[in-house]
Amino acid sequence: MDTTGTFFLPPQNSTVASDIDFLWDFIYWASAAFFVILGVAIFYFIIRYRRRRQGELTTGVAHNLPLEIAWTVIPTILIFFVFVWGFKGYMKLHIAPGDSMEVKVTGQKWFWSFQYPEGASTVNELVVPVDKPVKLLMSSVDVIHSFYVPNFRVKMDVLPNRYTELWFEATAVGDYDLLCTEYCGKGHSEMIGKVRVLGEREFNEWLESAGGMGEGMTPAEYGAQLFKSKACNTCHSIDGSKVVGPSFLNLYNTQQMLTNGQPVMADENYLRESILNPQAKLVAGYDPVMPSYQGVLKDQQIDALIAYIKSLKE
Ligand code: CUA
Repeated sequence: MDTTGTFFLPPQNSTVASDIDFLWDFIYWASAAFFVILGVAIFYFIIRYRRRRQGELTTGVAHNLPLEIAWTVIPTILIFFVFVWGFKGYMKLHIAPGDSMEVKVTGQKWFWSFQYPEGASTVNELVVPVDKPVKLLMSSVDVIHSFYVPNFRVKMDVLPNRYTELWFEATAVGDYDLLCTEYCGKGHSEMIGKVRVLGEREFNEWLESAGGMGEGMTPAEYGAQLFKSKACNTCHSIDGSKVVGPSFLNLYNTQQMLTNGQPVMADENYLRESILNPQAKLVAGYDPVMPSYQGVLKDQQIDALIAYIKSLKE
């Protein structure tokens, strides 16, 4: 298995990658070959059959049956060949093996969340075992996103109100880039994550520990971990700087001015409401872009995040 990649493409790290690259290479080099053949022919004809004298006529040949049959039949055969090849690959890419592990993927502005069968969930990091087919059942809660892992050569649109599917089988342990490839608003370029491929034993250990919530940590410590793992840090700073959303520094129990001119106290209930229903009381000076974390965070995790926000004061 290639692990170095080429000028055009990253390394092949899934079972389908080499097939896809082979077809891609075939189309690329066939196109390049025809480009050279046709380019040379055009230049040759331009020079060979140019008008040499004023008033001179060309040979007057208007039709050549064998030639016309050749340039109709040869490309048709070539196109059918590529079609059949591509169709076989398409079917292989779209029908997940029956023994696939299933993960629910949710795309929303602007992060990915993953729900595993055993109840664990992650944000912006899909954790999977190596050498095992994984089927993703995907949907969006807002606009169209697209799930793309270049190293696996798989990509699929993620739509609101409809499920789409994608499957892959990673062939090497490691971290791979996960990108959104459907322009989905101003945070589109930030909608990036990782696919972490683990050995089977490490994966099972991870799955067990990921189910537990912040064991052995104080609520604020667990909240600090969630702040990163649930991607809150994409839009909120903890040093007082204004990013997409308000900073968490010195936020707790301070008065905030809302867009409707009303003041609000940033107490526990306000913080909780803003996590679950961010648009309900919008702080003046910010756009209504925060997604709802309803269903993404469990109660205990919301408590931990609030404990963390409370701890951020100087
Ligand atoms: Cu989501 Cu682009």
